[in-house]
Amino acid sequence: MDDTRRLDPDWPFVPTPTVSIERAEGVYLYGADGTKILDAAGGAIAANIGHGRKDVAEAVARSLANTSYLVPPFECPERRALVDRLKSDWLPSHLTRMYFCSGGSEAIDSALRLARLHFVCKGETSRYKIISRFPSYHGTTIGTLAVSGHDNRRVDYEPLVATMPLVPAPYPLRFDGADTNEDCGMAAAAAIERAIENEGPETVAAVIGEPVIGSSGGAIVPPDNYWPAVRDICDKYGILLIADEVMTGFGRTGTKFACQHWDLKPDIMVSGKGLAAGYAPLSGMYATDQVVAPIADRKKQMMFYTYGGHPSACAAADVVLDVVIRENLIAKADEAGAALQQALEARLKENPHVAEVRGKGLLRAVEIVTDRETLEPFPEELNISGRLVGEGLRRGVFYYGGGTGPVRDIIAIGPPFTVSRDEIDIIADTFADCLDAITTKLAG
Ligand SMILES: Cc1ncc(COP(=O)(O)O)c(C=O)c1O
Repeated sequence: MDDTRRLDPDWPFVPTPTVSIERAEGVYLYGADGTKILDAAGGAIAANIGHGRKDVAEAVARSLANTSYLVPPFECPERRALVDRLKSDWLPSHLTRMYFCSGGSEAIDSALRLARLHFVCKGETSRYKIISRFPSYHGTTIGTLAVSGHDNRRVDYEPLVATMPLVPAPYPLRFDGADTNEDCGMAAAAAIERAIENEGPETVAAVIGEPVIGSSGGAIVPPDNYWPAVRDICDKYGILLIADEVMTGFGRTGTKFACQHWDLKPDIMVSGKGLAAGYAPLSGMYATDQVVAPIADRKKQMMFYTYGGHPSACAAADVVLDVVIRENLIAKADEAGAALQQALEARLKENPHVAEVRGKGLLRAVEIVTDRETLEPFPEELNISGRLVGEGLRRGVFYYGGGTGPVRDIIAIGPPFTVSRDEIDIIADTFADCLDAITTKLAG
């Protein structure tokens, strides 16, 4: 390499403007220069119980003083307490096996490994394909990119990434050939069955999906008939169903898990962000006894990640999950989510650039287009979602930019569940002001 340039500043990795925060408390982030930012995204839709809870910090400190580090297969009080709490208060009763990692991508990658290993151990070695949907996001490892319907994040790595069957997600606003929500649900489920038949059912290991699509599509809620139909299709062909609840899990959509809106029982479920609510890097993969039994019979193991289920992260999650129940925060997420939807609709319903305000609980999103009648997106190079996030920061509110491909200008909104009515109004008012400022500037 003969390029001798020195990049500045020395951090972040690829130099880019950043935001400098000194401390965070409740739903606010505070900068050293006195700025105060309302965290309408809970970080990356993760900080479910708000920032700066001392009881979580104290539990982490106690754990670090107690054990510092143990290999993931060892038991310790922090891991035992979390496993017991997940079992008694949180996980659907059919999901009895728990495997901990540090982040959503690792846990989804593990779910893909688990699906494959399950069939290898059952002797069905031809099954390896994972059917996924567009749009979707399941992580940024080379494995999880292969099942993510997210062109922007995958395109540069193409030669390294496996090609897996991709089908349209049930996205009522933009689903070709479906006039009603029900049509869309049935057509999207039928697309999965068609893909299974085209690929050869004996080659398919699993179908993966976010029960409510997160920031890649912008809080897309499927029609009610979709997940029951997908469950039936998976059962018909002996295929595993993986629910990615990395963003939705632990109360975000107003139920413990988003699957419960449709009484959906996945074979494998993955959670991340909400498990320790941003206080520690922790994620989990959960499965049924039936999924794990063939692996146990063959005396095989799922290799661990060094930091999987770190004791201090388990200690953080144990307090976080206690707080969510004790403070009745799931019901609060549901109520606050409805109020947020109403507030956003009230401010944006006349705006010609708003295609839809949607979501469930406190996972909401606004889709921005050139014209709500045609649903034509803005040209990609205008980077509307990036501009909106920048404008929001200048006005003291942090929104989460998302979207990919034709659904590119998505702004996700997912504040902590403790957000107040006044703060919801600030989030909605500021959003409308930001959008006006951007579109007025573009028009001028
Ligand atoms: C639905 C979903 N799955 C997986 C991931 C990847 O999680 P992580 O960024 O913790 O690796 C994300 C992250 O946003 C997500 O929203």
